[in-house]
Amino acid sequence: MTAQLISGTALSQQIRAEVATRAAALTARGVKPGLAVILVGEDPASAVYVRNKVKACAESGLHSVMEKYDASLSEADLLARIEALNADPAIHGILVQMPLPRHINPQRVIETIADEKDVDGFSIHSAGSLASGLPGFRACTPYGCMKLIESTGVDIRGKHAVVIGRSNTVGKPMALLLLQANATVTVCHSATPDLALHTRQADIVVAAVGRRNTLTADMVKPGAVVIDVGMNRNDEGKLCGDVDFGGVKDVAGFITPVPGGVGPMTITMLLVNTLESAERVAG
Ligand code: GUN
Repeated sequence: MTAQLISGTALSQQIRAEVATRAAALTARGVKPGLAVILVGEDPASAVYVRNKVKACAESGLHSVMEKYDASLSEADLLARIEALNADPAIHGILVQMPLPRHINPQRVIETIADEKDVDGFSIHSAGSLASGLPGFRACTPYGCMKLIESTGVDIRGKHAVVIGRSNTVGKPMALLLLQANATVTVCHSATPDLALHTRQADIVVAAVGRRNTLTADMVKPGAVVIDVGMNRNDEGKLCGDVDFGGVKDVAGFITPVPGGVGPMTITMLLVNTLESAERVAG
């Protein structure tokens, strides 16, 4: 292995300790940062994610409320709950866990969340702020990836970054964050004919496609920073990313593992967004 491991677990611990300190200071001033998490339906993976978010809040001294609803909840009732949380001064961030049942329009739900409480950064307002280089909530997974890249000490300015994947939740905001940090950014996706042509030129690669072995050692420039957003299962049922870690670790300069890389950072940046939302309220 030539690459240095970028530990999302270690960086998360460090950032969460800072969150806890700032949350305690804010609480002492009478504003305890508060997150509301809404789960609709019985999706087992979503239930785990939501539980982890609530647990992380408690560990960092944030207030949280978890609202769990049956899959039959109407869209109107969900929107009414969001409106109530929008008006609740104890709540600084609102997160509706995705995916939602099919009868509920997710974009309508996201747009009902008050702009100043959109800690997921999924709304058109948040996405537009990012695209325009204005302040606003950054989507937690790409925001966490930026922190991981920054933690390597590699100067992003002028570097060639290749993002594999163009989802609204990861690929697109990731490309915009890298652009804002003055990287030259290429976005590759399922219709890119020769992915390796691009990745071989990249100083930074972020893989966010959801397919294992998308990035193999022959596709990586020696010394590159490799960030793996993937969460897949291999044939033995073991968690693995989009990157062939075993091969790429001998070529890259820095690499995130799966698990223990991007995963823990997503919840950490949710805590950061909620804290900063409360700090804005407190003034
Ligand atoms: N489902 C999977 N990841 C996420 C996330 O980051 N936020 C929300 N709201 N739902 C998700």
